[in-house]
Amino acid sequence: MSEDLLSRLGLSVPVVQAPMAGGATPPAFIAECLRLGLLGSLGAAYMKPDTIAAQAAEIRARASGPLNINLFLPCAVPPAPGVVEAMLDFMAPLHAEAGLAPPHVPDPPHPDFAGQMEALRAARPEMASFVFGCPDAGLVAALKAEGIIVVGAATHLAEAEAVAAAGVDAVVAQGAEAGGHRATFIGSFEAGQVPTLDLVARIAGRLDIPVIAAGGLMDGVDVRAALDAGAAMVQIGTALLRTPECGLPAAHRDALGAGAGATTALIREWSGRAARGLPNRFTRAVEDAGLAVPPFPVQNAITQALRGKGRAVGDPDRLALWCGTGYSRAKAVPLADVVAEMLFEAGLTSPNH
Ligand SMILES: Cc1cc2nc3c(=O)[nH]c(=O)nc-3n(C[C@H](O)[C@H](O)[C@H](O)COP(=O)(O)O)c2cc1C
Repeated sequence: MSEDLLSRLGLSVPVVQAPMAGGATPPAFIAECLRLGLLGSLGAAYMKPDTIAAQAAEIRARASGPLNINLFLPCAVPPAPGVVEAMLDFMAPLHAEAGLAPPHVPDPPHPDFAGQMEALRAARPEMASFVFGCPDAGLVAALKAEGIIVVGAATHLAEAEAVAAAGVDAVVAQGAEAGGHRATFIGSFEAGQVPTLDLVARIAGRLDIPVIAAGGLMDGVDVRAALDAGAAMVQIGTALLRTPECGLPAAHRDALGAGAGATTALIREWSGRAARGLPNRFTRAVEDAGLAVPPFPVQNAITQALRGKGRAVGDPDRLALWCGTGYSRAKAVPLADVVAEMLFEAGLTSPNH
């Protein structure tokens, strides 16, 4: 199964550069991953269709190799009455303090999924991966008919069974350790926190589609353990976040280095959906206020301006500091060095490769 997936992708190593929406992976970063022999992923969830088209074209122009385009499936639920107004009232003094205009909910709060799908199909990626739900069987069949490998994501067995039943070619097993948003779509986020190696073994033991392990894979020893647990491929996110090629603001990268003692948590305050990262002054303030957080994507849209300010002025208390549990092992060295060391340690390349 693993061989089949790799040969369809034209890859010689079973490693996926994780999709990471929000600026961590500019086209030059993804192109470098392709040159290093990885499957590159464009985390396109927050992009308008023309940005998806432009970034995919730029990656193709810079390097050859297989490309995955990743989107969030629509998952909006209407906020309860009064919740948005209370959050805007809470945010108003934070905006004033930051020198920003009063907070509001941008309309639309998230790019239109149909438009994003059109851009994805036009870009003809080798793979399309989806999170935050079970992709519709009709959509999966249509993409497969166009020669695109389709991947869903699961945080426990019932979700893996659901995406497999929809016809996907492979499933990402997102373990509890993973940085960023949880893929959970059945049951609570807390219940969907299975450690990566257990999750991989459980899913690989039950389903006959390839499993892509994601979460806490920080070095070659971790990668080898995931492959030995039954993964066909591994997906690496946090281990790449401190590389100079990464597009994260310096304040975010520095926080991962400086905060090596802090523990990551499931955070809802920035986006309205549980995501793993480091708590900061903003997340603690919302928590202390005891406020109900509007659901994704509304809260994500409300906090967009404050995060933009955090990026502009380099303030880690105004940034969503996404990272996985293993962040203190992320190295501030070039991508090529992280990848070469990881592959060698995992026994996936010769020392002279
Ligand atoms: C900054 C950041 C952004 C992320 N954005 C996305 C995303 O847009 N889509 C997605 O499917 N997963 C996203 N993830 C999850 C990664 O694809 C991957 O599953 C995770 O990073 C693996 O765990 P690790 O961070 O411990 O390596 C994100 C993770 C991080 C750290």
